[in-house]
Amino acid sequence: MNDELKNLFRLTKKHIKQACKVSGRAFQDDPVTKYMFPDEIERREKVLYGFVAIYKYGIRNGEVYATSENLEGAAVWIPPKKVHQSMWSMLRNGGFHAMRKTGFKAMKKGMPIYKYIGPAHKRLAPFDHWYLQSIAVDPEEQGKGYGSSLLRAMITKIDNERLPIYLETNTKKNMVYYQKFGFEVVEHVIIPKTEIPLWCMLRKSQKV
Ligand SMILES: CC(C)(COP(=O)(O)OP(=O)(O)OC[C@H]1O[C@@H](n2cnc3c(N)ncnc32)[C@H](O)[C@@H]1OP(=O)(O)O)[C@@H](O)C(=O)NCCC(=O)NCCS
Repeated sequence: MNDELKNLFRLTKKHIKQACKVSGRAFQDDPVTKYMFPDEIERREKVLYGFVAIYKYGIRNGEVYATSENLEGAAVWIPPKKVHQSMWSMLRNGGFHAMRKTGFKAMKKGMPIYKYIGPAHKRLAPFDHWYLQSIAVDPEEQGKGYGSSLLRAMITKIDNERLPIYLETNTKKNMVYYQKFGFEVVEHVIIPKTEIPLWCMLRKSQKV
């Protein structure tokens, strides 16, 4: 394990609730959550439930780190062979719970997004790679370098494995942020049947 990773805090099942709260707060202004929950009050209450399945899957199959026990921020990394989660696995591991909590209307609205990003991921990265499924820093803690430490530590590890990293983002600001870490845009579209922009990005290993 590299020194940067040693400075992070690895999450387990017992941290899921706290991590979902951080992600729920961090994603309030995100285009996807605004689209799914246009009402601000409803958004504040429900966005966190969408992260249960992501953290559960990540903890079970990948590596999930926070900046410290205080969970200023956390990131979910999925290794090669595990990057594509089936719909059934997603539903069983928190998806049904999310559906019950957020309501059918929001889930239905999110379907075009889900239907686009999975196949795009398979098409754009048809090789072994890590997937940065989610990264979130609590709004009050943003701009202090927490996101960068979460990224740098795993980028170093994955570089040593000589593997690329794939991610999706829905804001230009984030796209530019990721470019600073060596990610390149491999596709930029408006997700069909929505108004949501999507940047799919890939970071090639610098050690190949
Ligand atoms: C995107 C996100 C994870 C970045 O995390 P962060 O902790 O805010 O990022 P950092 O602090 O590492 O860097 C952000 C900026 O602060 C600057 N910064 C870094 N360290 C700093 C420090 N010690 N003090 C002040 N600013 C600092 C960085 O240079 C960067 O500058 P830039 O805006 O010019 O790019 C975070 O903003 C977030 O959670 N956003 C909402 C959820 C989201 O969009 N997630 C990603 C979905 S793809």
